[in-house]
Amino acid sequence: MNFVNLKVDVVDRICRVTINRPDKLNALNQATIAELDRAVEAAVADPEVWAIIVTGAGDKSFVAGADIQELNGLEALEARTFARRGQMVFSRLEQSAKPTLAAVNGFALGGGCELAMACHLRIASSNAVFGQPEVKLGLIPGYGGTQRLPRLVGRGVALELLLTGRNVKAEEAQRIGLVNQVVEPDQLLGAAEKMLSVILANGPTAVGLCVDAVNRGIALSLEQGCALEADLFAVGASSPEMAEGTQAFLEKRPASFR
Ligand code: COA
Repeated sequence: MNFVNLKVDVVDRICRVTINRPDKLNALNQATIAELDRAVEAAVADPEVWAIIVTGAGDKSFVAGADIQELNGLEALEARTFARRGQMVFSRLEQSAKPTLAAVNGFALGGGCELAMACHLRIASSNAVFGQPEVKLGLIPGYGGTQRLPRLVGRGVALELLLTGRNVKAEEAQRIGLVNQVVEPDQLLGAAEKMLSVILANGPTAVGLCVDAVNRGIALSLEQGCALEADLFAVGASSPEMAEGTQAFLEKRPASFR
């Protein structure tokens, strides 16, 4: 598959998608969004791929936002389509049954912060900077930022960040729950692969069901969420993985999942 604004490689079951417009700090123009859609769809469908890492080219920026050049002059209906298209692509990452991880190697502003939040996990390099600065441009986030940020960090902190548009450095991002781990820049991809290798040693169906339970359950009442969990628990119990995982424990050997 050919890409202009992305680099995509698969090594050891992990697909690495690198947003590759370093001269524009990897800002997401519409061509990049369309390529990201194709790349994620293909990775999710590829049986050789078990996990996806999203990162940015260069050492300065993950993604510095939607392309402001393209935002300038958008009309209302175009703006709605613009937002819905990006939201759909990001939802693909969120709803993937294979774990998705943002390796945030610098600026993650606007659409960059939203892209990172759409992934299941986030590891930041110590020079990463997060923020939703759209209000400074007279805009609101359009790729899910007003919805995912409060779900990750809570309503009060999310509103502070959304209304002030202030940036958050990696350490603060970890403290407020926006990222899972902070590492030195030269350790970022290694740390991402290490976290994914721990996940990939687990039952892949169980991993996908956990993602589904969290994604769908978050919009439900506790009672409805627990009912959903029981249904998904039953799905997990019907997979050969549960037989292997429990048998391996009883036989005091490591489980071997296919
Ligand atoms: N859209 C389009 N182009 C962008 C961009 C964006 N979101 N962010 C950076 N760029 C471009 C700049 O226009 C510049 O291009 P040029 O060299 O052709 O002029 C290039 O990337 C480098 O950016 P520059 O601003 O010179 O780098 P910097 O180190 O001085 O500042 C930032 C870095 C991230 C602080 C600054 O680029 C910035 O504020 N970007 C916009 C962030 C934002 O508001 N994102 C939300 C958009 S909704």
